Amino acid sequence: MVYLTRVVYNARHLTLFKLAGLSMQTVQHIFEQNKTPKPLVAAINAVLDASKEIAFLLQKGAMGGVLGCADQENVQGETQKKLDVISNDLLKDTLKACPEVAGIASEEEDFPVPANKDGEFLVIFDPLDGSSNIDINVTVGTIFSILPSNGGDGSDEKTYLQSGRNQLAAGYVLYGPSTLLVMTTGQGVDIFTMDPTTKEFVLTDCQSKITPSTQEFAINMSNQRFWAKPMQNYVADLLQGEEGKLGKRYNMRWIAAMVAEVHRIISRGGIFMYPWDNRDPSKPGKLRLMYEGNPMSMLVEQAGGLSSNGDIAIMDIQPEKIHQRVPVILGSKEEVETALSYQ
Ligand code: AHG
Ligand code: MN
Ligand code: MN
Repeated sequence: MVYLTRVVYNARHLTLFKLAGLSMQTVQHIFEQNKTPKPLVAAINAVLDASKEIAFLLQKGAMGGVLGCADQENVQGETQKKLDVISNDLLKDTLKACPEVAGIASEEEDFPVPANKDGEFLVIFDPLDGSSNIDINVTVGTIFSILPSNGGDGSDEKTYLQSGRNQLAAGYVLYGPSTLLVMTTGQGVDIFTMDPTTKEFVLTDCQSKITPSTQEFAINMSNQRFWAKPMQNYVADLLQGEEGKLGKRYNMRWIAAMVAEVHRIISRGGIFMYPWDNRDPSKPGKLRLMYEGNPMSMLVEQAGGLSSNGDIAIMDIQPEKIHQRVPVILGSKEEVETALSYQ
């Protein structure tokens, strides 16, 4: 655990600290080390407030009556789980009540939702990533991305269509054996663990870095026949291991929750791919640029890794639609470069 040696906070910090239930170390870190502006911390705190409720509901599981499917689909035609809807509503309500937030956009909302007219930020989120894992008691997470509102209208989709390079903060809350906050404000990636007793997020790892090389890959192999030829060739070489041109043996993982795959990569390296495939011509990938691609790319780049759509860095894409899909190849720098050399 990282203990900060100098703890300085003033009355203003203390108020925010109490509001968000953050530990003194966390407040110290966010305010003193990262120099994160107070309004941005308030917006992040709103996400954390909702995520603590989500963590609580997930822990209750079947006892909370929140497992299983809701009787509805989202705008992308996907069946929603009850917890997708509940998590979305918790985040939406908490963020709308935060004066710093001008508007929100969510994977589970058809359209952007306006919040406060003078708010400085737009908060974009995937309320529950990996939701097929909910009913089997496996890791899921909340992914968030914060953009400047630039005085724009929080109900206007165009206000949100900014490249990932504009993100002021990005992160995820991972609901696994421990509940973790992994976050960046553009000055490296820090990891906080929620103390289950006090519900405080305590700084437990500072400036995490992704190892540049790896022998672990993650891809849904069942889609193999739908991929483009270069991706088929690359994965064929991964499978050849030390007998093929890559010259080393690889292991494979697939959790079916990008948030958990990215967390594994931040923790011990690896490459994660959800590439373009030809199953549905209207979808150039399964993952969503604004809710998943951009925030995860900011974290990965801030941790020294690479993130690409196979052609350019994901954060360099100019979004055209709020629910836009994107192919994703991200992780350890050298392995992503190898994957991209096949494209
Ligand atoms: P979500 O639960 O938010 O819809 O996202 C699930 C995503 C991603 O987290 C994961 O990597 C991928 O879908 C899994 O897809 P497959 O079921 O096709 O493996
Ligand atoms: Mn998702
Ligand atoms: Mn989701």
